[in-house]
Amino acid sequence: MPLLPGTATLGVMGGGQLGRMFVQAAQSLGYTCLVLDPDAASPAGVVAHEHLCADYLDPAALRELASRCDAITTEFENVPAQALEQLAQTRVVAPGASAVAVCQDRAREKAHFDASGVACAPYAVLRSDADLAAVPDHLLPGILKTARLGYDGKGQRRVTDRQQLAEAYQALGRVDCVLEQMLPLALELSVLVVRGAEGQVVTYPVQQNLHRDGILAVTEVPAPQVDDALQAQARASAAAIASGLGYVGVLCVEFFVLKDGRLVVNEMAPRPHNSGHYTMNACDVSQFEMQVRAMTGLPLREPRLHSPVVMLNLLGDLWFDAQGRERTPDWAGVLALPGASLHLYGKAQARPGRKMGHLNLTGATAEAARASARQACARLGLPDTW
Ligand SMILES: Nc1ncnc2c1ncn2[C@@H]1O[C@H](COP(=O)(O)OP(=O)(O)O)[C@@H](O)[C@H]1O
Ligand SMILES: [Mg+2]
Repeated sequence: MPLLPGTATLGVMGGGQLGRMFVQAAQSLGYTCLVLDPDAASPAGVVAHEHLCADYLDPAALRELASRCDAITTEFENVPAQALEQLAQTRVVAPGASAVAVCQDRAREKAHFDASGVACAPYAVLRSDADLAAVPDHLLPGILKTARLGYDGKGQRRVTDRQQLAEAYQALGRVDCVLEQMLPLALELSVLVVRGAEGQVVTYPVQQNLHRDGILAVTEVPAPQVDDALQAQARASAAAIASGLGYVGVLCVEFFVLKDGRLVVNEMAPRPHNSGHYTMNACDVSQFEMQVRAMTGLPLREPRLHSPVVMLNLLGDLWFDAQGRERTPDWAGVLALPGASLHLYGKAQARPGRKMGHLNLTGATAEAARASARQACARLGLPDTW
């Protein structure tokens, strides 16, 4: 039996912007929402019906979340697995602790890609000096990544030879790492896949992503440089990865397209994703509503892209002028543009590199969406090339 809209309470572990947009989608369907987050001013906590302001491992807060919610989800992958396990003893938790645990660890993640028959970069797992010494030559030049807790390019070092590799391993604190061969990238893609508890799977159109300084900057859909066959391959690969995990909820799978045209999986996030924010204005069902549908057992159906779209990430840098003085970006100018939809996350303090919001620009054609996006970039002071 699904947890029907208007009758159930949903809980979220984590109060960031992804939690906020989840709560807004759930509330729009008529669900009551509780958020657990230790920050009194968290973006999701301030919009939820109730904010449990406590540590993620606080036993009393976890008990309260479990007793008051019919189903619980998470909005960040580093939520402690034992917290999800405790909640799952009495409540529906989606995605489940075991699937999240795979996504939290690059070594386990890559093993799962191998098991799913989806090609990833050649790699080696480094857990000791012996593993370091045994690294095969063909993995260099490469990228050394901590197995856990990396994000937005953090916890990574590019290395060209064994000397640099040894120094990087030392600099990263000798924690468990994965060394990946440096691949010749043509472009980067991601795919949202949604899987229900009964195993039904739907995927969204492929997103083409541009990163700047390791952080997502621009997402464009339809992916302008990806042909239909490669898009179908990416969607089928994402579906296989989600099914093999027994995953329930929205999963985002990141891919590389290599210069020779091959598709290679990079990593995955067990939640709605920054590159999926375009769905809020360009699709007939957003990634956040899909998360609600999956965890409550409501029907999943193929989402439809109704408009070409460009998503621009809005980082805290935009809140400062060239002299470093704080300012408010020209929202009125931006919102005058055709197809512009602004989403701000309610963060009081802007900091360079901090994700403050995003702007979706839809159009009747890809060219129209792109033209609006270029004008938005000019009004905001963002680079307009991507
Ligand atoms: N094996 C690789 N070869 C070439 N570029 C890579 C490789 N792995 C990562 N990158 C680049 O580094 C970026 C960040 O790496 P990623 O594994 O996605 O970590 P993060 O968790 O920081 O997003 C990627 O988006 C890509 O541009
Ligand atoms: Mg990434």
